[in-house]
Amino acid sequence: MEFTPEIKDKLDKLQEKYAAMGQDMAAYLDGLLYADFLTYWDYIHLDTLLSLQSPKTPFPDEEIFIMYHQITELYFKLSLHECKQIAEHPALTAEFFANRVKRINAYFNALVSSFEVMVNGMEKEQFLKFRMSLLPASGFQSGQYRMIEICATDFMRLIDKSRREELANATTEEKFEHIYWKFGATELASGKQTLTLKQFIAKYADQFLQLIKEREQTNFAALYHRLLDEGQDVSLLAEELKKLDLFVNVEWPLSHYKSAVRYLERDPVDIAATGGTNWQKYLPPRFQKRIFYPFLWTETQVEEWGKSWVLSVLKTLHT
Ligand code: HEM
Repeated sequence: MEFTPEIKDKLDKLQEKYAAMGQDMAAYLDGLLYADFLTYWDYIHLDTLLSLQSPKTPFPDEEIFIMYHQITELYFKLSLHECKQIAEHPALTAEFFANRVKRINAYFNALVSSFEVMVNGMEKEQFLKFRMSLLPASGFQSGQYRMIEICATDFMRLIDKSRREELANATTEEKFEHIYWKFGATELASGKQTLTLKQFIAKYADQFLQLIKEREQTNFAALYHRLLDEGQDVSLLAEELKKLDLFVNVEWPLSHYKSAVRYLERDPVDIAATGGTNWQKYLPPRFQKRIFYPFLWTETQVEEWGKSWVLSVLKTLHT
């Protein structure tokens, strides 16, 4: 069979490519000859993926709990993948930034609408039993969730509200001592850090501190202000950032809170199942008022943060 001019052209280009690296094209062609055709299951490592669910108890619903956490972590990974591309873009434009935040919003939208898998997808009796075998592990220990926050906003916004002023000129390490979530994992009775928190900090503190420093000038809030100062049209970007603020700080926390209410409310044993944290006071967005971009909201919106949503969620729960 004669080679077409297109094939000859491709062979010439391949030859050039390998020669540039001092490689022998013929050897690589041999490799092609013997290589297997790619399959779907190998490409996405399907067997490995499906082997990663190892329940600790015989309750069938525990697998749902594991898989939904894994699904969530993959969406978090997708979000961080976009955060990195935005932060490290060599010539960032408002258009690129807005389009990539839009992707993150799509991921969170999927997470918010799928949380039903947790809220009504498991038998409460099973959950309350298998949960005790998982202590002191908690979704609270999701490092990726915290990394998304670090990428999304000025680090000061993640510091406990009451300490922000006095820490204005503090070092990153000093500020990190007062990051808001440390207060979500403090034992009700003693005021001491829970084991859940201690283990989380031991594993991730160095990674968090490094990321906080890396994102000092390249978190989304800083980048937004930079583009604004450059005179770029940031109107679409502002809309996407507002959606992100609502997804991460109101809608996802509320979907999640709904699960906590459904499975843990009322029963005194529940407090033990959460490692003794005061989750009723900690989880609702209207108490936390975590806001990435206060400069994009009106004073009233900041004031009313999370309130109407909380009320409507609670209403659907009790009817
Ligand atoms: C039935 C389902 C769930 C229940 C009952 C539940 C319960 C809780 C509770 C009580 C807390 C407060 C901290 C603690 O006491 O451990 C918490 C925190 C947290 N959980 Fe869940 N959770 C559920 C599902 C999930 C899922 C699927 C994820 C996904 C990764 C997740 C991620 C988190 C995160 C990130 C926090 C920290 C929230 C914050 O700091 O505001 N949870 N969860």
